[in-house]
Amino acid sequence: MQALKGTSAVSKQQAASVARLGAGANVAPRVVRVPQAAARAGLRAQRRPADSVAAAATATADKTAPAGPGTANGGGGGGTRVMIIGGDGYCGWATALHLSARGYNVSIVDNLCRRQFDLQLGLDTLTPIASAHDRVRKWGEISGKHIDLQIGDICDWEFLSQAFTSFRPDVVVHFGEQRSAPYSMIDRQRAVFTQHNNVIGNINVMFAIKELAPECHLVKLGTMGEYGTPNIDIEEGFITINHNGRTDTLPYPKQGNSFYHLSKIHDSHNIHFATKAWKLAATDLNQGVVYGVRTDETVADPALINRYDYDGIFGTALNRFVVQAAVGHPLTVYGKGGQTRGFLDIRDTVRCIQIAIDNPASRGEFRVFNQFTEQFSVNQLAEIVGREGAKLGLEVTVQNVPNPRVEAEEHYYNAKCSKLQDLGLVPHLLGDSMVDSLLEFVIAYKDRCRMELIKPAVDWRKAGVKVNTMAAAVASK
Ligand SMILES: NC(=O)c1ccc[n+]([C@@H]2O[C@H](COP(=O)([O-])OP(=O)(O)OC[C@H]3O[C@@H](n4cnc5c(N)ncnc54)[C@H](O)[C@@H]3O)[C@@H](O)[C@H]2O)c1
Repeated sequence: MQALKGTSAVSKQQAASVARLGAGANVAPRVVRVPQAAARAGLRAQRRPADSVAAAATATADKTAPAGPGTANGGGGGGTRVMIIGGDGYCGWATALHLSARGYNVSIVDNLCRRQFDLQLGLDTLTPIASAHDRVRKWGEISGKHIDLQIGDICDWEFLSQAFTSFRPDVVVHFGEQRSAPYSMIDRQRAVFTQHNNVIGNINVMFAIKELAPECHLVKLGTMGEYGTPNIDIEEGFITINHNGRTDTLPYPKQGNSFYHLSKIHDSHNIHFATKAWKLAATDLNQGVVYGVRTDETVADPALINRYDYDGIFGTALNRFVVQAAVGHPLTVYGKGGQTRGFLDIRDTVRCIQIAIDNPASRGEFRVFNQFTEQFSVNQLAEIVGREGAKLGLEVTVQNVPNPRVEAEEHYYNAKCSKLQDLGLVPHLLGDSMVDSLLEFVIAYKDRCRMELIKPAVDWRKAGVKVNTMAAAVASK
């Protein structure tokens, strides 16, 4: 908290704290592994003389960082070249800093369309975020580590291919999609935009890897929402089925609940095909709902603060409830509130990405991990926020509002999530203290909250062909 309130002047103390972070002080390791990515980077540095200077410089900088738990846990990126598509967004920014701090050589690729959506719809993040250029500059000042920034659209092949040939990634982490289900259901234009942006952007990334960097490991962000809510356990990507006396292991059935979720399903199918046809190496991370805002690096300076969405279009369940509690608005539970989903702390998101990078898929492999740590129903989340709010003297009430989505409100839900933990993820669980500190963080920014943006504004049943602009973001009475 202190760092957030402090001035943006760079102190030696801050630089030292970031250097410590560089050693990877995030979570204690469960499994100690030799980082394969670092070994691969070493081989590549031999193959590509042009890269070797930058890679060696990063590796040297990393060696000077004090040893910490993260170092033993694959914390040394060893100059592995990681392109983070969507690196200006919520998960991408935190991941870019996490990896840069640990010696990975990071390039952010982003067309800043997420910022544009806010301008179109009259939304804003609760936290005041610096421009993409200022963030990256500030990170360089306080950490001594360079993050490359390429502003452009991955649907534009000229731009993407140029970004690939100039950076030559060992790994592409692909966060760069339109990620809001409500946004995709505003109107026809947004539905088409979402599917075009996500599906075509992803196809371009696959072609770029095939043509320009065939050894590159694709780490793609999917969503747990791809599975829907089947009345059986959800496996990690594949299910073995016995049918009429024969057995096969097949992709787990997908049931998207919005044009956004369906775009992610198309991505998964396209990637699976490309691993077979072109021997791409790919990891599809079916991520749960992310909550929280602080990572070690994003609180190192006010200019590094991450975005925090609380509106009815981009705000995710727990993040929205925490803001509602902080400003005295009833927690808006959609329908009966029995909707159950997988959740994870943003500190685990960044760690999961690092784990996927350090333990890469093989050429031709389509690997699926379910990336969440705990599951809760919406009612359970509301209960936890209510209890923690009361401890801080907040009067938290709950309001069941008509569900704007078309989804089951009471259902069976049991999803597996062991593969990332088997590789060393030690989850930050949503204990009481976590909600407590998130609440305190949000209370510090509550004056920036715009009450009219809190209620659900997009009704799945009413998506029409008329183009909705700002009005789409504000609930009609
Ligand atoms: N936030 C969550 O709770 C959550 C949950 C499950 C899955 N995911 C997935 O994780 C990824 C990141 O989510 P987020 O919350 O950080 O989203 P975000 O909107 O904050 O970030 C996405 C970033 O990608 C950029 N982008 C989008 N289209 C692009 C394009 N065509 N070219 C270049 N850049 C582009 C945006 O400008 C933005 O900065 C998404 O793919 C999302 O589907 C997120």
